[in-house]
Amino acid sequence: MLDRHEILEKRGLLLSVAILVVVAIGGIVEIAPLFYLESTIEKVKGVRPYSPLELAGRNIYLREGCYTCHSQMVRPLRDEVERYGHYSLAAESMYDHPFQWGSKRTGPDLARVGGKYSDAWHQQHLVDPRSVVPESVMPPYAMLNERALDYSQVEAWLKANRVVGVPYTDEMIENAKNDLEAQVDPFSEIYDDFIARYPKAQIREFDGDPRKITEMDAMIAYLQVLGTMVDFSTYEAEENYR
Ligand code: HEC
Repeated sequence: MLDRHEILEKRGLLLSVAILVVVAIGGIVEIAPLFYLESTIEKVKGVRPYSPLELAGRNIYLREGCYTCHSQMVRPLRDEVERYGHYSLAAESMYDHPFQWGSKRTGPDLARVGGKYSDAWHQQHLVDPRSVVPESVMPPYAMLNERALDYSQVEAWLKANRVVGVPYTDEMIENAKNDLEAQVDPFSEIYDDFIARYPKAQIREFDGDPRKITEMDAMIAYLQVLGTMVDFSTYEAEENYR
């Protein structure tokens, strides 16, 4: 028996190939079912695709590399839950492509930052972090205040997300531009339609300047929705997930 094992042990290349085959079988057995299980991601009430303005903010978040210092996943550990709130659910990032979990935390986790501060605080903090947190090492992003948001491609952003599985409807894509504008206009004529498409979306002038839609508007709209879609006062995990 051991003699036959010599055949493998004396041939490095063959041994490597054999190891690869065995590891691959193990991998497939563990990973493949996750792609077919309906329950891999528990459906949770309240989670909806990002509104066009929030999605624009997310794009800027990626562009500026905020993820190089900030994660977006509260782990189920006592110190994290006490600091940030309920641990993150898989469903909360199901419409994030790519997800922003991360493990690099030069700054705090942002998965539940929505509602923690006022819009004005975020604006001041992004323009000059050290003016509100003197010991901060976060770089300033003052140009977000100045730059008009370029949303000429907004329909394409929604479509691209639909390709990877985000359930944006034709209606949402068709109205993307108007919906983006409606979110910074409390007197918008399509207020009701917009809220029907994106339940509980926050509608207001995020950067305090009604004259133009800036990158700051989009960034704050995005930060303020993070971690707020699920109502944890009524949330109860399904049997399998407790
Ligand atoms: C070089 C690392 C670094 C980068 C890049 C960075 N941050 Fe930060 N951020 C920090 C640090 C450190 C803190 C904690 C001190 C503070 O509040 O300024 C922080 C704090 C924050 C907070 C407050 C969080 C809380 O719970 O108090 C927000 C919101 C935030 N950052 C957003 C952003 C956004 C948006 C970007 C990208 C435009 C960004 N950060 C880029 C390091 C960074």
